[in-house]
Amino acid sequence: MCNKRVHGKSLTLIGDGIFNVSGDEWKFIRQVSSHEFNTKSLRHYVEDVVDIELNERLIPILANAAANNTIIDLQDILQRFSFDSICKISFGYDPKYLIPSLPQSKFAIAFEDALRTTTERFHNITPWKLKRFLNIGSEKRLKESVSEIRQFAKKLLNQKKQESSIQTVDLLSRFLCSGHTDENFLTDMVINTILAGRETTSATLTCRSV
Ligand code: HEM
Repeated sequence: MCNKRVHGKSLTLIGDGIFNVSGDEWKFIRQVSSHEFNTKSLRHYVEDVVDIELNERLIPILANAAANNTIIDLQDILQRFSFDSICKISFGYDPKYLIPSLPQSKFAIAFEDALRTTTERFHNITPWKLKRFLNIGSEKRLKESVSEIRQFAKKLLNQKKQESSIQTVDLLSRFLCSGHTDENFLTDMVINTILAGRETTSATLTCRSV
């Protein structure tokens, strides 16, 4: 099961998750994920999560902005909507990122920083591998963000492991209940799912047809 996996990338954001492996490793993760993603109960859970996020958060915020003629940053709002939804689906955690005060969330910010810094590696003149080696500038910040994200994911995972009765609703609980307990495997799975669902969904929602 999980011991088939090659460890060694655990300090990167996506570790040995589905986006970073190939061959048998990819096949294994794909099989266990497909099984969970195809259950009717997960689909119902996703519907419930999105329904609550829409009716209790997104629509009231949009309605309030319309009633008061307030200008809002729709992209930011939809990113918050996607982040709350995907965190709840992935590991049953509600970051409460889309609430009227539009708060900062350490976890969401660390995620955004890590993705931005990784993308910027391709545009920077200073070789990022050198910066990583010297642990300076953007690579130092990236390391801190990744560490924050992974520590946070592991903390949630351990809390769930200690719960006497795991309610098998979110993806993490489902993997735990089906006997996948390896900490790195589960952390990578959660982070990769958030990565897969977060920006794709908010970017699609923000798309303008031409
Ligand atoms: C509008 C939203 C989304 C778009 C446009 C989108 C698009 C894509 C695309 C183009 C791929 C690559 C497929 C390939 O290489 O064959 C992909 C892969 C994937 N997506 Fe999405 N996606 C979206 C939402 C989601 C959500 C919400 C999740 C999870 C909750 C998700 C999970 C995944 C996973 C796990 C993979 C990797 C599949 C694999 O390697 O076998 N995606 N997505």
